[in-house]
Amino acid sequence: MSATLIDGKAFAATVRGQVADHVARLKADHDLTPGLAVVLVGEDPASQVYVRSKGKMTVEVGMKSVEHRLEAETSEADLLALIQSLNADETIHGILVQLPLPGHLNEDLLINSIDPAKDVDGFHISNVGLLGTGQKSMVPCTPLGCLMMLRDHHGSLSGMDAVVLGRSNIVGKPMAQLLLGDSCTVTIAHSRTKDLPKVVRRADIVVAAVGRPQMVPGDWIKPGTTVIDVGINRIDAGDGKTRLVGDCDFDTCSTVAGAITPVPGGVGPMTIACLLANTLTACCRANGLAEPEGLTA
Ligand code: GUN
Repeated sequence: MSATLIDGKAFAATVRGQVADHVARLKADHDLTPGLAVVLVGEDPASQVYVRSKGKMTVEVGMKSVEHRLEAETSEADLLALIQSLNADETIHGILVQLPLPGHLNEDLLINSIDPAKDVDGFHISNVGLLGTGQKSMVPCTPLGCLMMLRDHHGSLSGMDAVVLGRSNIVGKPMAQLLLGDSCTVTIAHSRTKDLPKVVRRADIVVAAVGRPQMVPGDWIKPGTTVIDVGINRIDAGDGKTRLVGDCDFDTCSTVAGAITPVPGGVGPMTIACLLANTLTACCRANGLAEPEGLTA
């Protein structure tokens, strides 16, 4: 491997440390404790793992953590009432409704019922519009984490050719907006893109967020390119066990790329670190205080 490894695990620990320092200052100077409420509906095992991990790290940085675990059969009216009570709760600065929700619940309606100022996922339609028009918003955590790693590695991204693989609302589209905001020339590629290898070979920055294991081989990567791999896919390891791989084929991409994030230990840990950063930002904004430097877009 010739690429520099972008260590998301270490970087996320640094970000959480910065958040914890800022939280301690908020307490000492303003008697304020940022609060994050996470709502989980149903028993999806992966969601349960994420929610537990979010709660643990929220407490570790000195914030208040509230978890609401509701039955899979919870009605839309009951969930709306809970969100409204959290919107009105002054001790709660961030609200996250874990997705996916059970099929009988209208995700868009529920997400758009969260106070946009507390929408630490950045999924509310107001935040999507603010990001798209270059205004101050809450920014989705995974793309924010990718942006922080890219800025840390490159300094300025101005003028770079960026290719985002995937057009999801959670990662691909906001990632493209953030890169545009940092003056990259941005292409969003997806399953219908013609001659995908040729498109990817143009890129100085590749952000892969398609959810297809090892889809991007090394010979699609221009020498020296920075590869940010958002994929977390579980595959058969061949010995009766499974292992996690990204959307890029690490072994071949890492021989060509200039820098690359590993899976696991790359983008994944940055997502929760950015959730904590967003909760801190929301608390500062709600109280008219200066925002933490380097922790926002
Ligand atoms: N499910 C998977 N990723 C996410 C995320 O970033 N936010 C929420 N709310 N749910 C998710």
